[in-house]
Amino acid sequence: MLKKQKTALPALLLIYYPHSFFVTCISFQNMSLEGKKIILAVTGSIAAYKTPQLVRSLIKAGADVKVLMTNAAADFVTPLALATVSKHPVLANVSDGANWNNHVALGLWADAMIVAPCSANTLGKLANGLCDNIVCAVYLSARCPIFIAPAMDEDMWIHKSTQLNIGKVQGYGNHIIPVAHGELASGLVGEGRMAEPDDIVQHLSAFFSEEKPLKGVKALVTAGPTYERIDPVRFIGNFSTGKMGIAIAEALADKGALVTLVLGPSHEHTYHANINTIKVESAQEMYTASVAEFKDAQIAVLAAAVADYRPEEQAKEKIKKKEQDLNLLLSKTTDILAALGKIKQPSQTLIGFALETNNELEHATEKLKNKNADMIVMNSLKDEGAGFGYDTNKVTFVTPGNSAALPLQSKANVAIAIVNQIIALRHAEKTA
Ligand code: CTP
Repeated sequence: MLKKQKTALPALLLIYYPHSFFVTCISFQNMSLEGKKIILAVTGSIAAYKTPQLVRSLIKAGADVKVLMTNAAADFVTPLALATVSKHPVLANVSDGANWNNHVALGLWADAMIVAPCSANTLGKLANGLCDNIVCAVYLSARCPIFIAPAMDEDMWIHKSTQLNIGKVQGYGNHIIPVAHGELASGLVGEGRMAEPDDIVQHLSAFFSEEKPLKGVKALVTAGPTYERIDPVRFIGNFSTGKMGIAIAEALADKGALVTLVLGPSHEHTYHANINTIKVESAQEMYTASVAEFKDAQIAVLAAAVADYRPEEQAKEKIKKKEQDLNLLLSKTTDILAALGKIKQPSQTLIGFALETNNELEHATEKLKNKNADMIVMNSLKDEGAGFGYDTNKVTFVTPGNSAALPLQSKANVAIAIVNQIIALRHAEKTA
């Protein structure tokens, strides 16, 4: 269970919030939004008080900003303040009685739309296509990229319905600006704060920048379970859904990488233009595809839950039930991560996972060493909300001589954190 307590770990925050780590330590991007037309949609959350500052920062970066707000947002920030800083009238309704505010034209005008703060209520509407205010109407009409910066109390943020809605809006191709950890309006400390205005501007300028930090870099990701056939109708498998690996492939692709996703039997899929998916079934098929793809890859993240054993023999016909017990002889599969670790070149970054139930750090450190990986992303089945089936995960980065625990967060945010950490590792390697 996530404990709510006043925690202050400033040294670790660099790793807890890889986005700000990225911003402050590795300056790949300039904050430029020169000539960009941006719609800022403000919804009902205490973080709305930061939006005049956000408008200023966007304008300072060169953008022209028009503001929309919901009625609830007006409880936290005045339309007058936002109209004054943006130098445009603020729209709060689809019509003002005499005039109809053309949401379609607005949606077409913009180069980007930001929903910040995005309340749990608005998130739910965006996820489900509801349209009862100007923010939803413009969102549904917009053809530009949309950035969503959620803000809410931690309990609301980690609620299954919120995480489901985050997954849904992300599935529609929208960009989620990760929430931050810190003091919340409730007085508790936790996840759910809106990203700081400068981080939001950084996010947008990184998106519009041609300089994607992994532009053209080839990456390999394995994801999902493997199935080892016993006979034509039965297999040995595991509960992996593939969600974590797919989120990593998407986060790498968002940063410009050209990703090959070797995906075991999974109901999940991705439509990202930079991802080429190779579907496989067994550990052997995953091994063959991964070794072939690894040759050209600079980054490999092995997130698949690969079967360690397969039936020594596959029956050609369905095995019929008999009176006596059935013994299956299992033989070992090849460890893909260890195999890639053996052929890894100094320019390649190899990341593995470790799913543990006990002595987690010890086991993960052994895997890091034995498999010659650059980092192990460890998760424990003891942590509520982490592991198979959840949309959230709680991981610890284990690198030689170091470990850093991240808080429970969405798999999408964990994926961004992993990718930012990979970028930082590669940067450190280059400058060492
Ligand atoms: N892995 C792999 N090929 C295998 C088994 C595991 O590539 N045949 C990779 C996984 O993708 C993961 C890492 O090795 O990145 C660790 O997997 P895990 O199942 O946690 O550990 P195992 O090495 O299988 O050891 P154990 O099951 O005993 O914990």
